Amino acid sequence: MEQTLVLVKPDGVKKNLIGDIIARFEHKGLQVAALKLVKVTEAQAKFHYAEHEGKPFFGELVDFITSAPLVCAVIRGENAIKAVRQLNGATNPIEAVPGSIRGDFALSIGENIVHGSDSPEAAEREINNFFAPEEIY
Ligand code: CMP
Repeated sequence: MEQTLVLVKPDGVKKNLIGDIIARFEHKGLQVAALKLVKVTEAQAKFHYAEHEGKPFFGELVDFITSAPLVCAVIRGENAIKAVRQLNGATNPIEAVPGSIRGDFALSIGENIVHGSDSPEAAEREINNFFAPEEIY
């Protein structure tokens, strides 16, 4: 069984898409192991996106992710990391296929509705950044 961190980013929350997005993971057969609404701190955002530090869009990314509440979730299941990324669609929504979350709900790479961890190492680090062990069931 794998675990992955999912964020329904501030744009997804503002567009009232929380239920639609979580439903897609549940309908696929994945389990919600932890779920909460949070306002991310700057330090938490910088840690989450550390691999992008120094890139031209880093400042905008941190500003966006800290701008309003988001939903974070631990999603668990067989091949959860790959399954979530497939359901999310390509990072750039304009390349994401219709039927994927970004393909259906987003237009801009900077505001692409959803995040999913890209490796088991990233998932562990990202989950620990958002959840205490006792919050994960
Ligand atoms: P996410 O999957 O959350 O991981 C890193 C995020 O950086 C990505 O989604 C995009 O929202 C953002 N991103 C990646 N490339 C660019 C870019 N060229 N311009 C703006 N934002 C980007």
